[in-house]
Amino acid sequence: MTHVTRSLPEHFLFGAATAAYQVEGAAFEDGRTASIWDAFARVPGAVIDGDTGDVACDHYHRYADDVALMKGLGLQAYRFSTSWSRVRPDGGAVNGRGLDFYRRLVDELLAAGIVPWLTLYHWDMPQALEERGGWTSRDTVDRFVEYAITMHDALGDRVTQWTTFNEPWCSSFLSYTAGAHAPGRQSVRDGLLASHHLLLAHGRAVQELRARGAQDVGITLNLTNAEPVDASDEADADAARRIDGQFNRWFLDPVFRAAYPADVVEDVRAVDAAAVGAFETAVRDGDLATISTPPDFLGVNYYHGEYVSGRPSPVPVPGGDAPTDRVIRSPFPSHEGIYWHERGYERTNMGWEVDPAGLTALLRRISDAYATATPLYVTENGAAGDDRLDDGRVADRQRSAFVRDHIAAVRDALDEGVDVRGYFYWSLLDNYEWAWGYAKRFGIVHVDYDTQVRTVKDSGRAYASIIAARAV
Ligand code: NOJ
Repeated sequence: MTHVTRSLPEHFLFGAATAAYQVEGAAFEDGRTASIWDAFARVPGAVIDGDTGDVACDHYHRYADDVALMKGLGLQAYRFSTSWSRVRPDGGAVNGRGLDFYRRLVDELLAAGIVPWLTLYHWDMPQALEERGGWTSRDTVDRFVEYAITMHDALGDRVTQWTTFNEPWCSSFLSYTAGAHAPGRQSVRDGLLASHHLLLAHGRAVQELRARGAQDVGITLNLTNAEPVDASDEADADAARRIDGQFNRWFLDPVFRAAYPADVVEDVRAVDAAAVGAFETAVRDGDLATISTPPDFLGVNYYHGEYVSGRPSPVPVPGGDAPTDRVIRSPFPSHEGIYWHERGYERTNMGWEVDPAGLTALLRRISDAYATATPLYVTENGAAGDDRLDDGRVADRQRSAFVRDHIAAVRDALDEGVDVRGYFYWSLLDNYEWAWGYAKRFGIVHVDYDTQVRTVKDSGRAYASIIAARAV
């Protein structure tokens, strides 16, 4: 068997990602107050086994060891998020002790030669702000901008890479319409308002950080490929259009074209005209100009594709199970009547299809149609596995192949002329997988939650070899 080595460009960045609530723990230490996830995790039935992020991976105390682990793996960049309620508890005055943690973490990373990639919002708004309307309130935009400026004032001399939001689809529709994530509201109107205010806060923060000298400010979106089961079938093609509309175009169009996609607005109006009315009132003159302030990069989170039809699948399709018995609504009204089909791809422990070619296709499409002059980074890509720690080893072959095949897919996109500059594996550590609690493991490093012992999995070693060789 011949193995062809394909190298990655000299400046291509290899990293791994985490998020504050999923790894930090120390939930009520040094002045941190509750976020919407601290509150939601305590709602009976919201999270598997009632798991919370109170301790998580205890990264707050073990960050130095974790940075040493990253260095050992040869990671060049670490994507993490900061906790708003640690830095500005209750969304109010600045808490120096909270900021100090991020100063320590960033200094440790820099000393190890690892580039800090800071995300300002990975889903954990102060609960006190949620009680004042959360993302449905326009005031939250101002509070977020204050918080963004606080972070830049404290770390702007050391952090060059700033991401405003991680996956605003999740913090709007999954959280305010489906009720699957914090704050668990179930309202079409609230999801629409939240999405607009998140995007507006993104645009405002880009402007404010740039005015303070930041040169690399972007946003990370969860984007997908929607493939119709039969492209010549009208209902199937329409199912794919609607998936593309809600996940991709609802966010890409305002950021890159200063407009919400009219077809999606009309889909939602047909189901809930009052919600769309409230949304249209919330979109004020000038908002779209602010939202479309050109970002310096676009982060793409890619996990799987969507193989969809307007007709139910003849065979049961794995995956998509709800973590608990809690009744979850459809995240988007135009989701109704969309059915996922099986195409025989391997699946991960989340039930998600493994589709590396989909990543190439997605990157090419975004770069052709939207980010024509904007560099792309894969800011998340990863697989949950049914991992077993045996004799100090996790032999996670599926994840090793997953990493290699997706980096090869990025290499394919580069060959096709796409300007993609980095790849971050999700996640460095096994961690708190939101409504799935600790039941799903995505890490290249295993975490024993009883002892907090970390063990590099086989996939961690496989990724380290790819980084060392700069080739797949
Ligand atoms: C996307 C999210 O950004 C991250 O928080 C989550 O853990 C992974 N996907 C896996 O579901």
